[in-house]
Amino acid sequence: MEFKFSSIPFQKGKVAIVTGANNGIGYETTVGLVKVGFKVVMACRNISKAHIAKTKILQKLPNADLEVIHLDLSDLKSVREFVKEFKSRYNGLHVLINNAGVLSYSGKKNDAGIELQFATNHLGHFLLTSMLIDIMPDENSSRIISLSSVAHKKAKIHFDDINCENADDAGAAYGQSKLACLMFGDELNRRLNKKGSKIRSLSVHPGGSDSGLFDEMSRLWYFTLKVLAPFITHSNEKAAVPSLYAALSGDIKGGEYFGPTGFNELKGKLGIAYRTDYSRNEGIASNLWELSEKMIGEKFNM
Ligand SMILES: NC(=O)c1ccc[n+]([C@@H]2O[C@H](COP(=O)([O-])OP(=O)(O)OC[C@H]3O[C@@H](n4cnc5c(N)ncnc54)[C@H](OP(=O)(O)O)[C@@H]3O)[C@@H](O)[C@H]2O)c1
Repeated sequence: MEFKFSSIPFQKGKVAIVTGANNGIGYETTVGLVKVGFKVVMACRNISKAHIAKTKILQKLPNADLEVIHLDLSDLKSVREFVKEFKSRYNGLHVLINNAGVLSYSGKKNDAGIELQFATNHLGHFLLTSMLIDIMPDENSSRIISLSSVAHKKAKIHFDDINCENADDAGAAYGQSKLACLMFGDELNRRLNKKGSKIRSLSVHPGGSDSGLFDEMSRLWYFTLKVLAPFITHSNEKAAVPSLYAALSGDIKGGEYFGPTGFNELKGKLGIAYRTDYSRNEGIASNLWELSEKMIGEKFNM
Protein backbone atom coordinates (compact mmCIF):
# COMPACT_ATOMS: atom_id res chain seq x y z
CA MET A 1 0.00 0.00 0.00
CA GLU A 2 1.46 3.32 -1.03
CA PHE A 3 0.35 6.94 -1.15
CA LYS A 4 1.66 9.08 -3.99
CA PHE A 5 0.44 12.61 -4.72
CA SER A 6 1.20 12.03 -8.41
CA SER A 7 -1.49 9.29 -8.55
CA ILE A 8 -4.28 11.57 -7.26
CA PRO A 9 -6.27 13.47 -9.92
CA PHE A 10 -6.66 17.24 -9.32
CA GLN A 11 -9.75 17.71 -7.11
CA LYS A 12 -11.10 20.97 -8.47
CA GLY A 13 -14.20 22.39 -6.79
CA LYS A 14 -14.04 20.00 -3.82
CA VAL A 15 -14.28 21.13 -0.22
CA ALA A 16 -12.72 19.48 2.84
CA ILE A 17 -12.84 20.28 6.54
CA VAL A 18 -9.84 19.41 8.71
CA THR A 19 -10.37 19.79 12.44
CA GLY A 20 -7.25 20.81 14.37
CA ALA A 21 -5.62 22.03 11.14
CA ASN A 22 -3.36 24.55 12.85
CA ASN A 23 -0.74 22.10 14.12
CA GLY A 24 0.92 18.70 13.80
CA ILE A 25 -0.83 16.06 11.71
CA GLY A 26 -3.85 18.25 10.90
CA TYR A 27 -1.55 20.91 9.46
CA GLU A 28 0.21 18.37 7.21
CA THR A 29 -3.13 16.83 6.20
CA THR A 30 -4.28 20.31 5.17
CA VAL A 31 -1.11 20.82 3.11
CA GLY A 32 -1.71 17.48 1.38
CA LEU A 33 -5.33 18.26 0.55
CA VAL A 34 -4.64 21.73 -0.91
CA LYS A 35 -1.80 20.24 -2.98
CA VAL A 36 -4.35 18.10 -4.83
CA GLY A 37 -6.76 21.00 -5.33
CA PHE A 38 -9.14 20.89 -2.36
CA LYS A 39 -10.49 24.03 -0.77
CA VAL A 40 -9.77 23.34 2.91
CA VAL A 41 -11.68 24.83 5.80
CA MET A 42 -9.36 24.83 8.78
CA ALA A 43 -11.67 24.16 11.75
CA CYS A 44 -9.63 25.42 14.69
CA ARG A 45 -9.98 26.37 18.32
CA ASN A 46 -6.98 28.69 18.42
CA ILE A 47 -7.71 31.18 15.65
CA SER A 48 -4.45 33.14 15.80
CA LYS A 49 -2.46 29.87 15.50
CA ALA A 50 -4.74 28.93 12.59
CA HIS A 51 -4.00 32.17 10.75
CA ILE A 52 -0.26 31.70 11.30
CA ALA A 53 -0.58 28.15 9.90
CA LYS A 54 -2.59 29.43 6.92
CA THR A 55 0.07 32.07 6.15
CA LYS A 56 2.79 29.45 6.41
CA ILE A 57 1.00 27.20 3.91
CA LEU A 58 0.41 30.14 1.53
CA GLN A 59 4.13 30.96 1.60
CA LYS A 60 4.83 27.43 0.32
CA LEU A 61 1.76 27.01 -1.87
CA PRO A 62 0.53 30.46 -3.00
CA ASN A 63 -2.52 29.00 -4.80
CA ALA A 64 -3.73 27.13 -1.74
CA ASP A 65 -7.43 27.75 -1.15
CA LEU A 66 -7.89 27.98 2.62
CA GLU A 67 -10.35 29.42 5.08
CA VAL A 68 -10.27 29.47 8.87
CA ILE A 69 -13.47 28.98 10.90
CA HIS A 70 -13.54 28.75 14.69
CA LEU A 71 -14.41 25.39 16.27
CA ASP A 72 -14.02 24.25 19.86
CA LEU A 73 -14.93 20.56 19.83
CA SER A 74 -15.16 20.35 23.62
CA ASP A 75 -18.18 22.67 23.49
CA LEU A 76 -21.29 21.41 21.65
CA LYS A 77 -22.54 25.01 21.26
CA SER A 78 -19.35 25.87 19.38
CA VAL A 79 -19.82 22.81 17.12
CA ARG A 80 -23.34 24.00 16.25
CA GLU A 81 -22.07 27.55 15.57
CA PHE A 82 -19.29 26.20 13.35
CA VAL A 83 -21.77 24.17 11.26
CA LYS A 84 -24.10 27.18 10.94
CA GLU A 85 -21.24 29.31 9.69
CA PHE A 86 -19.95 26.59 7.33
CA LYS A 87 -23.40 25.91 5.85
CA SER A 88 -23.98 29.65 5.30
CA ARG A 89 -20.94 29.65 2.98
CA TYR A 90 -20.84 26.16 1.41
CA ASN A 91 -23.51 23.96 -0.17
CA GLY A 92 -21.48 20.78 -0.10
CA LEU A 93 -18.73 18.95 1.76
CA HIS A 94 -16.66 16.18 0.16
CA VAL A 95 -14.15 15.19 2.85
CA LEU A 96 -14.37 15.55 6.62
CA ILE A 97 -11.19 14.78 8.56
CA ASN A 98 -12.01 14.39 12.24
CA ASN A 99 -8.41 14.98 13.23
CA ALA A 100 -8.31 17.28 16.28
CA GLY A 101 -7.38 15.67 19.53
CA VAL A 102 -6.26 16.33 23.05
CA LEU A 103 -4.22 14.13 25.38
CA SER A 104 -4.36 14.99 29.04
CA TYR A 105 -3.77 12.93 32.15
CA SER A 106 -5.12 15.54 34.53
CA GLY A 107 -8.79 14.50 34.63
CA LYS A 108 -9.97 17.79 33.14
CA LYS A 109 -13.63 18.15 32.22
CA ASN A 110 -15.47 20.45 29.85
CA ASP A 111 -18.07 22.96 31.09
CA ALA A 112 -20.77 20.27 30.94
CA GLY A 113 -18.75 18.05 33.33
CA ILE A 114 -17.69 15.53 30.63
CA GLU A 115 -14.11 14.23 30.65
CA LEU A 116 -12.25 16.48 28.21
CA GLN A 117 -10.75 13.85 25.89
CA PHE A 118 -14.05 11.98 25.42
CA ALA A 119 -15.83 15.31 24.91
CA THR A 120 -13.30 16.65 22.40
CA ASN A 121 -11.94 13.63 20.57
CA HIS A 122 -15.22 11.73 20.28
CA LEU A 123 -18.42 13.61 21.19
CA GLY A 124 -17.56 16.87 19.40
CA HIS A 125 -16.73 14.95 16.20
CA PHE A 126 -19.88 12.80 16.61
CA LEU A 127 -22.08 15.92 16.61
CA LEU A 128 -20.02 17.62 13.88
CA THR A 129 -20.41 14.61 11.56
CA SER A 130 -24.11 14.30 12.32
CA MET A 131 -24.69 17.94 11.39
CA LEU A 132 -22.63 17.85 8.18
CA ILE A 133 -23.46 14.48 6.64
CA ASP A 134 -26.61 15.82 4.95
CA ILE A 135 -24.53 18.06 2.64
CA MET A 136 -22.10 15.32 1.59
CA PRO A 137 -22.79 14.06 -1.95
CA ASP A 138 -23.83 10.40 -2.14
CA GLU A 139 -20.60 9.35 -3.86
CA ASN A 140 -17.73 6.92 -3.18
CA SER A 141 -15.34 9.86 -3.05
CA SER A 142 -17.22 11.43 -0.11
CA ARG A 143 -15.21 10.45 2.95
CA ILE A 144 -15.36 10.82 6.71
CA ILE A 145 -12.06 10.01 8.40
CA SER A 146 -11.75 9.32 12.12
CA LEU A 147 -8.32 9.56 13.81
CA SER A 148 -7.75 6.73 16.25
CA SER A 149 -4.49 5.63 17.86
CA VAL A 150 -2.45 2.62 18.91
CA ALA A 151 -3.67 3.70 22.36
CA HIS A 152 -7.04 2.07 21.53
CA LYS A 153 -5.42 -1.36 22.01
CA LYS A 154 -5.47 -1.33 25.82
CA ALA A 155 -8.79 0.50 26.07
CA LYS A 156 -12.44 -0.23 26.64
CA ILE A 157 -15.52 1.96 26.86
CA HIS A 158 -16.28 2.59 30.54
CA PHE A 159 -20.07 2.75 30.16
CA ASP A 160 -20.56 2.86 33.94
CA ASP A 161 -17.80 5.46 34.45
CA ILE A 162 -17.53 7.39 31.19
CA ASN A 163 -15.32 10.07 32.80
CA CYS A 164 -12.92 7.26 33.86
CA GLU A 165 -12.86 8.59 37.42
CA ASN A 166 -12.33 5.10 38.87
CA ALA A 167 -9.83 3.83 36.30
CA ASP A 168 -6.40 2.87 37.69
CA ASP A 169 -4.52 3.72 34.48
CA ALA A 170 -3.89 7.44 33.88
CA GLY A 171 -4.13 6.84 30.13
CA ALA A 172 -7.52 5.09 30.30
CA ALA A 173 -9.52 8.15 29.30
CA TYR A 174 -7.32 8.97 26.30
CA GLY A 175 -7.41 5.31 25.20
CA GLN A 176 -11.19 5.24 25.63
CA SER A 177 -11.60 8.40 23.54
CA LYS A 178 -9.47 7.02 20.68
CA LEU A 179 -11.26 3.65 20.83
CA ALA A 180 -14.53 5.60 20.61
CA CYS A 181 -13.24 7.34 17.44
CA LEU A 182 -12.47 3.95 15.86
CA MET A 183 -15.78 2.36 16.89
CA PHE A 184 -17.69 5.43 15.73
CA GLY A 185 -15.95 5.25 12.33
CA ASP A 186 -16.99 1.57 11.97
CA GLU A 187 -20.53 2.03 13.20
CA LEU A 188 -21.03 5.02 10.92
CA ASN A 189 -19.85 2.94 7.98
CA ARG A 190 -22.25 0.10 8.86
CA ARG A 191 -25.15 2.54 9.13
CA LEU A 192 -24.23 4.22 5.83
CA ASN A 193 -24.12 0.78 4.14
CA LYS A 194 -27.48 -0.20 5.61
CA LYS A 195 -28.98 2.98 4.18
CA GLY A 196 -27.48 2.24 0.75
CA SER A 197 -25.32 5.36 0.92
CA LYS A 198 -22.08 5.50 -1.07
CA ILE A 199 -20.37 7.82 1.46
CA ARG A 200 -17.47 6.01 3.13
CA SER A 201 -16.38 6.20 6.74
CA LEU A 202 -12.80 5.13 7.40
CA SER A 203 -10.49 5.18 10.38
CA VAL A 204 -6.77 5.74 10.59
CA HIS A 205 -4.03 5.99 13.17
CA PRO A 206 -0.95 8.10 12.47
CA GLY A 207 1.62 6.00 14.34
CA GLY A 208 3.77 8.21 16.55
CA SER A 209 4.90 11.72 15.72
CA ASP A 210 6.43 14.55 17.70
CA SER A 211 3.47 16.93 17.51
CA GLY A 212 1.90 19.19 20.11
CA LEU A 213 -0.08 16.26 21.53
CA PHE A 214 2.35 15.49 24.34
CA ASP A 215 2.79 19.07 25.59
CA GLU A 216 0.60 18.48 28.65
CA MET A 217 2.38 15.34 29.87
CA SER A 218 4.47 15.38 33.02
CA ARG A 219 7.88 16.95 32.33
CA LEU A 220 9.66 13.66 32.94
CA TRP A 221 7.55 11.86 30.34
CA TYR A 222 7.70 14.84 28.02
CA PHE A 223 11.50 15.05 28.00
CA THR A 224 11.89 11.25 27.80
CA LEU A 225 9.64 11.28 24.75
CA LYS A 226 11.54 14.20 23.19
CA VAL A 227 14.80 12.28 23.54
CA LEU A 228 13.31 9.05 22.15
CA ALA A 229 11.19 10.70 19.44
CA PRO A 230 13.76 10.67 16.62
CA PHE A 231 14.24 6.89 17.06
CA ILE A 232 10.69 5.68 17.56
CA THR A 233 8.49 8.15 15.66
CA HIS A 234 8.18 9.61 12.19
CA SER A 235 7.51 13.16 10.97
CA ASN A 236 4.06 14.79 11.11
CA GLU A 237 4.18 14.78 7.32
CA LYS A 238 4.48 10.98 7.31
CA ALA A 239 1.93 10.69 10.13
CA ALA A 240 -0.58 12.49 7.88
CA VAL A 241 -0.25 9.86 5.11
CA PRO A 242 -2.89 7.43 6.49
CA SER A 243 -5.45 10.29 6.62
CA LEU A 244 -4.57 11.41 3.08
CA TYR A 245 -4.69 7.85 1.76
CA ALA A 246 -8.11 7.22 3.36
CA ALA A 247 -9.42 10.53 2.05
CA LEU A 248 -8.09 10.33 -1.49
CA SER A 249 -7.37 6.78 -2.60
CA GLY A 250 -9.85 5.17 -4.98
CA ASP A 251 -8.74 1.73 -3.89
CA ILE A 252 -10.49 1.35 -0.53
CA LYS A 253 -13.58 -0.03 1.13
CA GLY A 254 -15.54 1.78 3.81
CA GLY A 255 -14.79 0.66 7.36
CA GLU A 256 -11.10 0.01 6.74
CA TYR A 257 -8.48 1.09 9.30
CA PHE A 258 -5.09 2.25 8.03
CA GLY A 259 -1.82 3.16 9.70
CA PRO A 260 1.93 2.59 9.63
CA THR A 261 2.80 -1.07 10.09
CA GLY A 262 6.41 -1.01 11.36
CA PHE A 263 7.67 -1.76 14.90
CA ASN A 264 4.79 -1.26 17.35
CA GLU A 265 2.97 0.51 14.47
CA LEU A 266 4.75 3.75 15.38
CA LYS A 267 6.11 4.30 11.89
CA GLY A 268 6.77 2.35 8.71
CA LYS A 269 4.99 1.27 5.59
CA LEU A 270 1.30 2.17 5.26
CA GLY A 271 -1.07 -0.77 5.56
CA ILE A 272 -4.13 -2.20 7.28
CA ALA A 273 -3.68 -1.45 10.98
CA TYR A 274 -4.04 -3.90 13.87
CA ARG A 275 -7.22 -3.58 15.87
CA THR A 276 -8.47 -5.38 18.93
CA ASP A 277 -11.44 -7.77 19.04
CA TYR A 278 -13.07 -5.37 21.48
CA SER A 279 -12.95 -2.60 18.86
CA ARG A 280 -14.76 -4.87 16.36
CA ASN A 281 -17.66 -5.59 18.72
CA GLU A 282 -20.78 -4.33 16.96
CA GLY A 283 -22.95 -4.51 20.07
CA ILE A 284 -20.57 -2.24 22.00
CA ALA A 285 -20.32 0.14 19.03
CA SER A 286 -24.08 0.38 18.88
CA ASN A 287 -24.30 1.06 22.64
CA LEU A 288 -21.64 3.76 22.26
CA TRP A 289 -23.65 5.33 19.44
CA GLU A 290 -26.78 5.45 21.64
CA LEU A 291 -24.83 6.84 24.59
CA SER A 292 -23.32 9.51 22.31
CA GLU A 293 -26.78 10.51 21.06
CA LYS A 294 -27.93 10.81 24.66
CA MET A 295 -24.89 12.93 25.55
CA ILE A 296 -25.32 15.35 22.60
CA GLY A 297 -29.06 15.50 23.29
CA GLU A 298 -30.19 14.57 19.78
CA LYS A 299 -30.42 11.68 17.31
CA PHE A 300 -27.62 11.35 14.76
CA ASN A 301 -28.94 12.89 11.53
CA MET A 302 -29.22 9.94 9.15
N1 LIG B 1 1.13 12.50 17.32
C1 LIG B 1 0.94 11.23 17.66
O1 LIG B 1 1.90 10.51 17.99
C2 LIG B 1 -0.45 10.66 17.61
C3 LIG B 1 -0.59 9.29 17.83
C4 LIG B 1 -1.85 8.72 17.76
C5 LIG B 1 -2.96 9.50 17.45
N2 LIG B 1 -2.79 10.85 17.27
C6 LIG B 1 -4.00 11.64 16.94
O2 LIG B 1 -3.71 12.50 15.85
C7 LIG B 1 -4.57 13.64 15.92
C8 LIG B 1 -3.77 14.90 15.68
O3 LIG B 1 -2.92 15.13 16.79
P1 LIG B 1 -1.45 15.72 16.67
O4 LIG B 1 -0.53 14.64 17.04
O5 LIG B 1 -1.27 16.45 15.41
O6 LIG B 1 -1.47 16.72 17.92
P2 LIG B 1 -1.37 18.33 18.01
O7 LIG B 1 -0.17 18.82 17.28
O8 LIG B 1 -1.49 18.63 19.45
O9 LIG B 1 -2.66 18.79 17.25
C9 LIG B 1 -3.93 18.62 17.83
C10 LIG B 1 -4.88 19.60 17.21
O10 LIG B 1 -6.16 19.43 17.83
C11 LIG B 1 -6.63 20.70 18.20
N3 LIG B 1 -7.57 20.67 19.32
C12 LIG B 1 -7.33 20.27 20.59
N4 LIG B 1 -8.44 20.48 21.33
C13 LIG B 1 -9.36 21.04 20.50
C14 LIG B 1 -10.68 21.49 20.67
N5 LIG B 1 -11.30 21.46 21.87
N6 LIG B 1 -11.35 22.00 19.62
C15 LIG B 1 -10.74 22.06 18.41
N7 LIG B 1 -9.50 21.67 18.18
C16 LIG B 1 -8.81 21.16 19.22
C17 LIG B 1 -5.38 21.50 18.56
O11 LIG B 1 -5.71 22.87 18.52
P3 LIG B 1 -5.12 24.00 19.53
O12 LIG B 1 -4.02 24.63 18.79
O13 LIG B 1 -6.27 24.90 19.79
O14 LIG B 1 -4.65 23.27 20.76
C18 LIG B 1 -4.46 21.06 17.43
O15 LIG B 1 -4.72 21.78 16.26
C19 LIG B 1 -5.26 13.56 17.28
O16 LIG B 1 -6.56 13.07 17.12
C20 LIG B 1 -4.42 12.57 18.06
O17 LIG B 1 -5.16 11.89 19.05
C21 LIG B 1 -1.57 11.42 17.32
